[in-house]
Amino acid sequence: MIDFHTHILPGIDDGSRDIRMTEQMLEKEAAMGVTHVYATPHFYAHRANVNRFLERRQRSYAQVQELLERRSDLPKVTVGAEVYYFEGMGKAEQTPQLCVEGTDVLLVEMPFEQWKEGVYRDIRELILRRDLRVVLAHVERYIGLQKNQDVWDRVMELPLTIQMNGESFLHFGLTRRFCMKQIREWGGKVLIGSDCHNLTDRAPNVAQALAYIHSKTDGEMIKKIEETEKKLLCPPM
Ligand SMILES: [Fe+2]
Repeated sequence: MIDFHTHILPGIDDGSRDIRMTEQMLEKEAAMGVTHVYATPHFYAHRANVNRFLERRQRSYAQVQELLERRSDLPKVTVGAEVYYFEGMGKAEQTPQLCVEGTDVLLVEMPFEQWKEGVYRDIRELILRRDLRVVLAHVERYIGLQKNQDVWDRVMELPLTIQMNGESFLHFGLTRRFCMKQIREWGGKVLIGSDCHNLTDRAPNVAQALAYIHSKTDGEMIKKIEETEKKLLCPPM
């Protein structure tokens, strides 16, 4: 089992505070059967430049590597980023450097507002011209903001992968209903990530989410999710 979206690197964003918290979060991941965690700290183009971000990420990751040398019982960790959408990201030269290490997979956090034409153009450019494999982070968090769904519909028709947060499956309500409906419709293009930030209110929870999905779809959707993970994340898995 993998956790594709986490803020588990220490001291780099609003996720894990320090290496001790990272260790406890990884213990929690391991206890629920996660074998591979993707560390995806926030990247905001208006706040940091790419080089400085990569340097900071490397310093933080070095602490995790040291930890993993001592603790072979913890999941493997691969670094990436959760890249907040910025205008022109489709053409920006350095965008590919923010992919999950060793892959062409880019996790994009979309704007928390009505999506406009430029958003579609940038995402399309990343996929069709730059040959990146785009994963949209927690899509269930944007749908309510799309009063006009034209751009949403066109984005979703692109060959991309959709990530949903574990949390969205854990409580009765509209969000869970939306996710279950979309998971059936989008089938082989959905991934689950915990988007964990800590050990309390935003803790690792992929296993609980998958258990819920399993209970509602006879395991059929779990197989599709696993296939999507394999296709997307080879070779680092
Ligand atoms: Fe996140």
